[in-house]
Formats: sequence, structure tokens, C-alpha cells
Amino acid sequence: MSDTYVHGYDPRENERLHDQAGTLVDLLHADTAYPPGSTVLEAGYGVGAQTITLAKRSPDARFTSVDVSADSLAEARRRADRAGLTNVGFRQADIFALPFSAESFDHVFVCFVLEHLSRPVEALAILNGLLRPGGTITLSRAITDRPTSIPTAPPPTRRSGARSRCRGGPAATP
Ligand SMILES: C[S@@+](CC[C@H](N)C(=O)[O-])C[C@H]1O[C@@H](n2cnc3c(N)ncnc32)[C@H](O)[C@@H]1O
Repeated sequence: MSDTYVHGYDPRENERLHDQAGTLVDLLHADTAYPPGSTVLEAGYGVGAQTITLAKRSPDARFTSVDVSADSLAEARRRADRAGLTNVGFRQADIFALPFSAESFDHVFVCFVLEHLSRPVEALAILNGLLRPGGTITLSRAITDRPTSIPTAPPPTRRSGARSRCRGGPAATP
């Protein structure tokens, strides 16, 4: 693993992620819907708490969800099966070593992940490179009063025609 996830992967953290996603569902997903037939990469799915909302709200889009944690994979699959999702494929993969070629996806969704990475700008550039021209990145990250790990370096160059949307989450532990 190229970065350590500070909250760990115990059952209590699984429940916290699930509760957090439920509480913030309107804030995070009110304006997020993907067209039928589009392909979406979700980076850092945790226990699949955002995945379930995403996949239910865009039932005809196809989601590929990746997380570096093997424990998360089992838990997210269990929750997605229980929710009856058929439009999501979960994979264990590191954002910094993703097994996809350039321009593989129409959209990227990344929520409460970049703030846990030591190289968030590099991660964003990698995700950006996986977008087809005209694709979007929907990015949510928590803004806290702690020092943030996002560096002050300029963001990666935007792909021609690509859109990105950023929003801050609550001042809680992301
Ligand atoms: C705070 S959780 C957020 C999970 C989910 N997006 C949500 O909002 O509920 C952060 C997740 O990022 C994952 N993660 C951390 N570093 C990663 C990396 N290098 N590649 C892929 N996933 C990573 C962790 O395993 C963890 O599941």
C-alpha cells in the first residue's frame, strides 16, 4: 500500500463510513447522476457506502469501484449484494497503480479519499488521465481546521473538454 489509511479497517470504522454516507447523502449526491451507458470509476470505495447511493441513483451507468484494502473489498461486496446492485464491479487496486489504460472512463467519483493520501495531486492527475475527453471528476473532500495534506502546488492540467466539480465536506473526520 502506498499510503496508510489513518482510520484503519475495523468494524467500527466500517459503521462510521456507512453512517457518515447516510447522513451526507443529500449534500454529496443531490446533483450527481450519470447517463445510461456511461462508465464511472469510483476511487476509494471504503465499505461501499457511497457506491450504493451512486449505483442506485444511476442504475443504467456501469461503476468500477476500486479500493486498496482487501478487507474493504469483502465488506463492500457484501453490502452491495444485500442492496441488490448489479451495475457495480469492485476491485482491489491502489490509485497509484491502477490496472486501467488511459481514457477508460466517462466519469470519476472520489469522496473523502484524497485527504488520506500523501500525494493527492499525483492521485488526481492519475484519475484525470483515465477520463475520456469531456468526462468529469466529482471530488468531495473534508475541510477541517487541521493542517491539510493537499499541497499548494498547482492542480493537474485539466483535460481538454473535461469538467471537474469540487466540494468540501463537513468539518468532521473524513
Ligand atoms: C475515508 S474512506 C472513504 C470511503 C468512501 N469513499 C466513503 O466516502 O465512504 C477512505 C478510503 O480510501 C481508501 N484508500 C486509501 N488510500 C488508497 C489508495 N492509495 N488507493 C485506493 N484506495 C485508497 C481507504 O482504503 C479507504 O477505504
